[in-house]
Amino acid sequence: MARMLSLLGCGEEAACLSFDRLQRMAPAAHDALAAVARDERVHDALLRGLLARLPPAGPNSRALVAMRSVHKGLGQGDPGLQCAGIAALDSAVCTLLSGMLRRGTHLPWHGPLRAVLRKIRDDEARHVAVTQAIALRNGETNKLRAAAAQLRHDLVVALTLAGNDFEALGIDPDRTLAAIAGLPTGLLRS
Ligand SMILES: [Fe+2]
Ligand SMILES: [Fe+2]
Repeated sequence: MARMLSLLGCGEEAACLSFDRLQRMAPAAHDALAAVARDERVHDALLRGLLARLPPAGPNSRALVAMRSVHKGLGQGDPGLQCAGIAALDSAVCTLLSGMLRRGTHLPWHGPLRAVLRKIRDDEARHVAVTQAIALRNGETNKLRAAAAQLRHDLVVALTLAGNDFEALGIDPDRTLAAIAGLPTGLLRS
């Protein structure tokens, strides 16, 4: 669990920085992006809080390196493409968290764990709506969806390296990764 949270947490740090940068690049969407950046800072703190209470685990360094490079790639391109990538990433995080929260998984018992994961999932769903709307105002559907598909591909490569951690939590890695690999049909279409 600690390894999975570290993987999610490295995204929160990166997300805070990309939203700060995007606010400067897309001033028209400043307030919406500022609200998302605030959420990401809360997520970062919540995940750190959970990690401090869980039994420590050696890091899955390969997965972390791959995940950081996914986030680095998100900072490239114009605001439309960046927002398309963020919408693709946050919607994948929703899928991942829903998989973790499903009945029958072996999440360790820990007071606020499920509540925190649920809160992050619900916030990420809102971020998808915000970033998708900005992307559609700033780019063509085909290009946006291509950037989103590339992001999902890179994300699956990174998460595949954490397959053992999925299994240890009672989450079927094949099923989860297949769900993340496919871009939702309605995503980034006006
Ligand atoms: Fe987040
Ligand atoms: Fe987010």
